[in-house]
Amino acid sequence: MRISVIGCGYLGAVHAASMAELGHEVVGVEVDERKAELLAAGKTPFYEPGFDELLARSLASGRLTFSSQMSAAAGAQVHFVCVGTPQKRGEYAADLRFVEGAVASLVEVLQPGELVVGKSTVPVGTAARLAEVVMEKVPGALLAWNPEFLREGYAVQDTLHPDRLVYGVPAGDTRAEALLDEVYATIVAAATPKVVTDYATAEMVKTAANSFLATKISFINAMAELCEATGADVKQLADAIGHDDRIGRKFLNAGLGFGGGCLPKDIRAFMARAGELGADQALTFLREVDNINMRRRIRMVELAREVLDGSLLGKRIAVLGAAFKPESDDIRDSPALNVAAQLQLQGATVVVTDPAAVENCKAQWPQLDYADSAEEAARGADAVLLLTEWKQFRSLDPAEFGKVVKQKRVLDGRNALDRDAWEAAGWSYRALGRRHAG
Ligand code: UGA
Repeated sequence: MRISVIGCGYLGAVHAASMAELGHEVVGVEVDERKAELLAAGKTPFYEPGFDELLARSLASGRLTFSSQMSAAAGAQVHFVCVGTPQKRGEYAADLRFVEGAVASLVEVLQPGELVVGKSTVPVGTAARLAEVVMEKVPGALLAWNPEFLREGYAVQDTLHPDRLVYGVPAGDTRAEALLDEVYATIVAAATPKVVTDYATAEMVKTAANSFLATKISFINAMAELCEATGADVKQLADAIGHDDRIGRKFLNAGLGFGGGCLPKDIRAFMARAGELGADQALTFLREVDNINMRRRIRMVELAREVLDGSLLGKRIAVLGAAFKPESDDIRDSPALNVAAQLQLQGATVVVTDPAAVENCKAQWPQLDYADSAEEAARGADAVLLLTEWKQFRSLDPAEFGKVVKQKRVLDGRNALDRDAWEAAGWSYRALGRRHAG
C-alpha cells in the first residue's frame, strides 16, 4: 500500500520506518526540513535502540522516503497523523495546534476513498470533530483513530509487534477497518488482539491506559512513603503483592516516579478534558497521582540533604542518569534532571552523567556540570545518586567505584542497585521506601 506519515518525531519516524518494514511504500512528511533531511540521510535525530538499523533497511529497500512538503502525501491510500500534542503552556489541557494544522493541510491533497488515521494522543472528542473537517472538505474520505502504545526504548518492537490494535471507526462503515487490516496485515495475521470501536472509546483507551500506569506507579510510591514512616521495605512489599496475578509486578517499581513526554501530560490533559465535560470528579484522584509523583522528587532532594549532614552547600554530588528512563535520550519532564537541577540550585556542585542524554541536558541546563562516565562524575564526590537505572550503572562494581569517591554514600533513586553488594563494599546505602542501616 502507499502510506503517508505526517509528523516524523519519535512516534512518526518509528511508525514510518516500521510500515516500510512491513512492505508498504511510505513517505514521511516532516515540516522541520532539517529533521526530514537527517532522516532521509539515515540519521536518527533521537536515541532509540534498533531504530538506526530499521531506518537503514527501510531506506535501502527504496520503500521509505521523507519530504518536508505535504504535497508528497498525495496519492497515498492511508495517511497517518503522528504529530505531537504537548501540554499547553500554563494549563493542563493538550495543545492541539499541530494535529489541527496537520489535518488542515492534509485535506488539501486528500482524495475520496483515502483514509486519515490519527495516532496522536488527543482529548476525547477530537476525532469526531476532525472527521467532520475531513468529510466536509473531501466528501468520500474517511477518518479513523488508531492509538499507539509504544514505549520509548522499545519503540521498534512495540510498533512491529504490538500487544493490541485499537481502531476507532465511524459507526456502520467497514471501509476504515478493512484498510487498517490491510496496513497491519502481518500483525493481524499474528492473531494480535484487535478492538474495533467508536472514536471516543479509541481515544479514551489511550488516556485510560496511561492513567492506569501512572496510578500504579504512584500507588507504589505512596506505599514507599508509608514504608519510610514505618520502617517497612517497599521493594519486598512490591514483590509480595506482585505475586498476585490480579496485581502483577510490572510498573510497581518504587523510586523517583514517572516523567517523560507522555504520562505526566496525558494525565493532566485527561483531567482538563474531564472538567470540560462536567465529569471532573471522576478524575480528581489523578491530581493525587500527580502530587505523589512530584513529591518523590522533593523527597529525593531532602534525602540527599539528610545524608550530607544537613546541608547541600558546597557538597559535590554525582548524578548517574538524566534521561526520564533508561534506553532513552529523552529529558522531557525527567525526574532525574529535575532532582539534579534542584540540588544545584540549592548550593551543591552537581556532576551529571548519562549514556545518551548529556547533549540534550547541556542545551537545557548548561549550568550543571557533565561527565562522560560514572567514574568521572563521581571523582571526589560526597554522595552518588542513581536517578535513572541504566544497566551501565546497575552493573557498576561497588568496590572499584568506591575508589574514586570522597565519601561512599549512595542514594538509589530507582531501587535498582544490589544493596547487599554495595553495603558489603563499604557504602552507606539509602533508597526511597527502604529501611536503612542507620
Ligand atoms: C508510556 C507508556 O508506557 C506507553 O504504553 C505509551 O505508548 C507511551 O507512554 C505514550 O503515551 O506514547 P513511555 O513514556 O515510553 O511510555 O515510558 P514508560 O515506560 O511508561 O515509563 C514512564 C515513566 O515511569 C519513566 O519515567 C519510568 O522511569 C517510570 N516508571 C516506570 C517508574 O517509576 N516505575 C515503574 O515501575 C515503571
